[in-house]
Amino acid sequence: MDQRPELGIYIHIPFCIKKCIYCDFTSFPDKYDLQERYIQKILEEIENEKSVFENYKVTTIYIGGGTPSSIESKYIIRILDKIKKYLDIKNVEITIELNPGTVTKQKMLDYKKADINRISIGLQSTQNHLLKTIGRIHTYEDFIKTYELAKQVGFENINADLMIGLPNQTIQDIKSTLQEIMKLKLQHISVYSLIIEPDTELEELIENGKLTIPPDEEERKQYQYVKNILELEGYIHYEISNFSLPGKQSKHNTNCWEQKEYIGFGLAAHSYIDKKRFSNTNDMNEYLNNDYIKIKTLQENQTQEEQEKEYMLLGLRKLEGVQIQKFKQKFGKNPLYIFRNEIEELTDEGLLEVELDNIKLTRKGIDFANLVWEEFI
Ligand SMILES: C[S@@+](CC[C@H](N)C(=O)[O-])C[C@H]1O[C@@H](n2cnc3c(N)ncnc32)[C@H](O)[C@@H]1O
Ligand code: SF4
Repeated sequence: MDQRPELGIYIHIPFCIKKCIYCDFTSFPDKYDLQERYIQKILEEIENEKSVFENYKVTTIYIGGGTPSSIESKYIIRILDKIKKYLDIKNVEITIELNPGTVTKQKMLDYKKADINRISIGLQSTQNHLLKTIGRIHTYEDFIKTYELAKQVGFENINADLMIGLPNQTIQDIKSTLQEIMKLKLQHISVYSLIIEPDTELEELIENGKLTIPPDEEERKQYQYVKNILELEGYIHYEISNFSLPGKQSKHNTNCWEQKEYIGFGLAAHSYIDKKRFSNTNDMNEYLNNDYIKIKTLQENQTQEEQEKEYMLLGLRKLEGVQIQKFKQKFGKNPLYIFRNEIEELTDEGLLEVELDNIKLTRKGIDFANLVWEEFI
């Protein structure tokens, strides 16, 4: 049995056809001319880090963005071929994010041939008028075409991203989105509450009174509605924003919430190795022109105490919460003792509960999760 610690790999593809009005991820609509050089740089980064692969057992690879499906599939193949030179990808969950309207059948076939085995499609809503408002390039019909292509070429592990709290979005909209989506029997559904990120077009439109978003109370109702319906339909609510059919939880994300290590390649990619957090530069010029050493910056060198707090913070995102035994095994301490003040306070407020071996959010705690996480920052 392979005793090496687990490692996830994240690859960032920072190109998008058009910027959605709410998005502050590192992605550009006007830098496609740099894609060849960019991919070359990622290959160099992987080459530089190849020794890491000897010390770890890689369990997940996640190709995210940006819009990975908007670049030619030969680039995705090149990246995966490079990784395969150094490790055996048998049993590795390999995900790629796709945007409807950017995938051809040939691309889908190439992804399959390159051993990608999980697809994540950004849908957000089935209402075309809402998609237009938030600046998406696609319609619901485009999503269906992308989904059908994925099925046709044999993908059996498919996620769709949905959003709630969108401008002018009603419970009725969400109801019909779920009704449509339930017909597809997707393995995984992520449901994100719209976040108004600073310096986005969305923020400006809201400040100028050109768009309004549902009040918090309404947004919470939307969330509870989604949770109830998906659970009735047999989905497991395993993390604040994530639902899956049994056994189909995303390994990549679960590893992050369990504080497992990962290495990120590409612009603005993060890594967590040996209790240290690194981030890559988010400046494209710097990324393409600097030598490898200057790309990764140390952000945090965790003390044991910081690591313990972070373990709680991440673990409490999962609905099963933090397992007391696992915590003890990892840190040699009882979390009920070292966090007794925080746990007592949050339990009194009805936000946290201790159930057998688990410290977890209550139903109320799910709605006010930020208040819980604040205690562990
Ligand atoms: C960064 S995107 C990458 C995937 C792909 N480019 C897409 O948009 O479909 C991943 C997901 O993050 C979510 N997201 C991005 N910005 C968000 C925001 N400001 N608030 C809530 N969710 C957001 C969207 O649901 C999106 O599908
Ligand atoms: S397609 Fe995805 S990554 Fe690109 S701008 Fe829209 S939300 Fe952001």
